[in-house]
This record gives sequence, structure tokens and C-alpha cells, in this order.
Amino acid sequence: MTIFVTGGAGFIGANFVLDWLAHGDEPVVNLDKLTYAGNLHNLQSVQGDARHLFVQGDIGDAALVERLLAEHRPRAIVNFAAESHVDRSIHGPEDFIQTNVVGTFRLLEAARHYWQALPATDKEAFRFLHVSTDEVYGTLAPSDPAFTEAHNYEPNSPYSASKAASDHLVRAWHHTYGLPVLTTNCSNNYGPLHFPEKLIPLMIVNALAGKSLPVYGDGMQVRDWLYVKDHCSAIRRVLQAGRVGQTYNVGGWNEKPNIDIVKTVCALLDELRPRSDGHSYTQQITYVQDRPGHDRRYAIDARKIERELGWTPAETFDTGIRKTVQWYLDNPGWVANVQSGAYRDWLQKQYEQV
Ligand code: NAD
Ligand code: DAU
Repeated sequence: MTIFVTGGAGFIGANFVLDWLAHGDEPVVNLDKLTYAGNLHNLQSVQGDARHLFVQGDIGDAALVERLLAEHRPRAIVNFAAESHVDRSIHGPEDFIQTNVVGTFRLLEAARHYWQALPATDKEAFRFLHVSTDEVYGTLAPSDPAFTEAHNYEPNSPYSASKAASDHLVRAWHHTYGLPVLTTNCSNNYGPLHFPEKLIPLMIVNALAGKSLPVYGDGMQVRDWLYVKDHCSAIRRVLQAGRVGQTYNVGGWNEKPNIDIVKTVCALLDELRPRSDGHSYTQQITYVQDRPGHDRRYAIDARKIERELGWTPAETFDTGIRKTVQWYLDNPGWVANVQSGAYRDWLQKQYEQV
């Protein structure tokens, strides 16, 4: 048996592939376009491992996907591939529509053709697991209950609108064609291999480089943080036992305002790698112009996945963020590698006022 993973050179996909191979011997075919966010260094520890086949390519390349499915005959597809950064979607939404909407559509079509031709028992066992986000539900007021799976879709950014569209396609391919799909909607991840355009790794990397720590608006936007390995275990569990056609919200019950996250990162760095002048890294915090259309609060109600599948996160925020900061301190080579010219161009474009 084999599983087919897309986007497995990115942050969550690579963590998933590494965890998958650490938990068993079932091979993985890993299709990734290697955009700026895809990085083969993330997969260095499984290079040469016969259980891992990496293919550079686009989920929107129907001929390639159909050939790979026919060749490797996977029992499941896990779709991580996406453009994932909200700020980039504001500067340039086109890539988000191409990959997240058109790409998912093409992947679904290839999966449907493959699945329809499978023998009955393989057809019954096949799963298409689509990895999505809590951002499709829109934003919450401070006293609103957390997002359940029944919450309306109210996406507010080009990124979240493109993910919402992909979720709708996945749902429709199940209802119309019977494709056995599962969807997970997860809150903000953090942990090793997180590309330093996102809040937590950007703060760690900038702090160590003596740069400012750009906090958007008043810093009181709330996100619900989950350690990436817990997201991976949730996906494994949903793949194993999720009910076909269902969606599962995944979250860590860790709602925190951004400014608290930034101060926590500073406090850990003050402890683990103090500044040479003896001052706190909090001195580098700078409030900058807010993100347009910035969602104020996300919070996930993760009771369904706990009730039906017995999944709960293993890490608290305190344990997860300490491991994360330590990982960045231990891996300066990884950080240097991802800070290519293209990364520096992005920082210039996004933070030119800082
Ligand atoms: P990421 O940007 O780090 O990685 C995305 C990966 O997809 C990269 O390796 C990239 O090269 C690849 N990719 C992009 N376009 C592709 C295409 N057309 N064909 C093949 N590969 C392509 O993203 P991530 O943070 O790892 O997120 C993975 C998935 O999880 C996304 O679908 C995202 O929407 C979802 N998600 C992310 C979070 C989070 O906090 N990061 C939370 C919930 C859900
Ligand atoms: O909720 C799940 C989503 O979480 C995923 O679907 C997305 O792929 C992922 O990127 C993430 O989206 P966010 O927009 O919440 O993550 P980001 O790290 O970009 O920002 C987190 C919060 O921090 C957000 O409120 C914006 C703020 N922020 C971010 C950056 C990069 C800052 O204040 N300063 C910054 O420089």
C-alpha cells in the first residue's frame, strides 16, 4: 500500500511525511511543485529512503497526476499543496486561484478517474483527504463561540476564499460522484520547518538578526495555535477512521493575542540566547500598519474529532513553543538556506515601511 501526498516539501506536508515514515513502513509518493515555500532540505532525513519517492510537479498537471496515480496505485491522497500565506494573497491573488482552486479541481478529477476504475475492495477503501483551514469560517467577535463544523463559510481574504472554494469542490465531488473524501479544517500551526514569512518563525529569525519585530495593528488579533506534530497526528487519525464525507475541525484550544505570542517568543529567547547588551528582545517590537481585511479572531471547537476519533493534542502551547524556539536556535543552517534572494525581496515588499 502507498499514500500519495501533495505539497509534502512545505511546512506541514514535510512534517507529515517525516512523521508518517517514523510511524510505519507504508511508502509515500510526494508531489510538490517546489514553489518558494517548498524546500527539499525539509526532507533531507528521508533522502535515499526507498519508502519516499519525491516528484517535482504541479497538482494542476492532470497528465502527470494521472500517470503517477496509475503507476503507484495509492490507497489515499492527502492534499496539502496550496499557496498558504494571507499577505501574499493580498499582493497577488492569481497564484492562489490557480493552485488552490484550479489545482484542487484538477487533482479531484484525476482522483475521480483513478478511483472509479479501481476494483471494488480498493474502491471502498480509497480516501481523498483535503487539508484545509479555519480561515474559511471568517472572523469571530470576542464573545462568539468557537467555530464548529456547522459554521457558515465566510472567508475574508483571497487566500481563505480560495481555500473555501477548494473545500466546496471537495464536498461536491463527494455528493455528486461519490468520491470518498475527508476534510480537515485546522487552526494556526507552528513548529519546526515553518517558513519565516509567518508570524512565529519571522519573530524568531528577526529577533536573532537584531531586526524589528513587526506587529500588525494593535497586536490584539487572536489565533488558536496548534503544534504541527499534533496536526499531523490528527490527519493520520482522520485518514484512519474518519467518516467519509465528513469534515473535522482541528485545534489546540490555545487562543492567544498576537502580542502575547511575540512576547512569549522574546521571553524564551531572553532565556535561551540572551542579547549581548543584556536587554530584552521585546525592545525590538514595532507596531506597523495593519493587514487589510485582517480577521480579528479565530477559535476552533475541536470536540467532534475528540468525540468521534479520540484525537487530542499532545503538546500544550508552553511545551510546543519552547521546542519550536529551540529548533530554530539549533538549525541556523536551515534558516540561512531559506533566506534566499526571493525571501529578501518579499520582506522588502511587505515590510518596506518598517
Ligand atoms: P506551505 O506554504 O508551507 O507549503 C505548501 C507546499 O505546497 C509547498 O511545498 C509548495 O511548494 C507546494 N505547492 C504549492 N503549489 C503547488 C502546486 N500547484 N502543486 C504542487 N505543490 C504545490 O503551506 P503549509 O503551511 O504547510 O500548509 C499546508 C496546507 O495546510 C495548506 O493547504 C494550508 O492551506 C493548510 N493549512 C495550513 C495551516 C498553517 O497554519 N500553516 C493551518 C491550517 C491549514
Ligand atoms: O488559521 C490557519 C491559517 O494560519 C492558515 O490557513 C494559513 O495558511 C497560515 O498562514 C495562518 O494564517 P495567519 O494569517 O493567521 O498566519 P500569519 O502567521 O501570517 O499571521 C498570524 C497573525 O500574526 C495574524 O493575525 C497576522 C499577524 N502578523 C503576521 C505577520 C507575518 C503580524 O502581526 N506581523 C507579521 O509580520
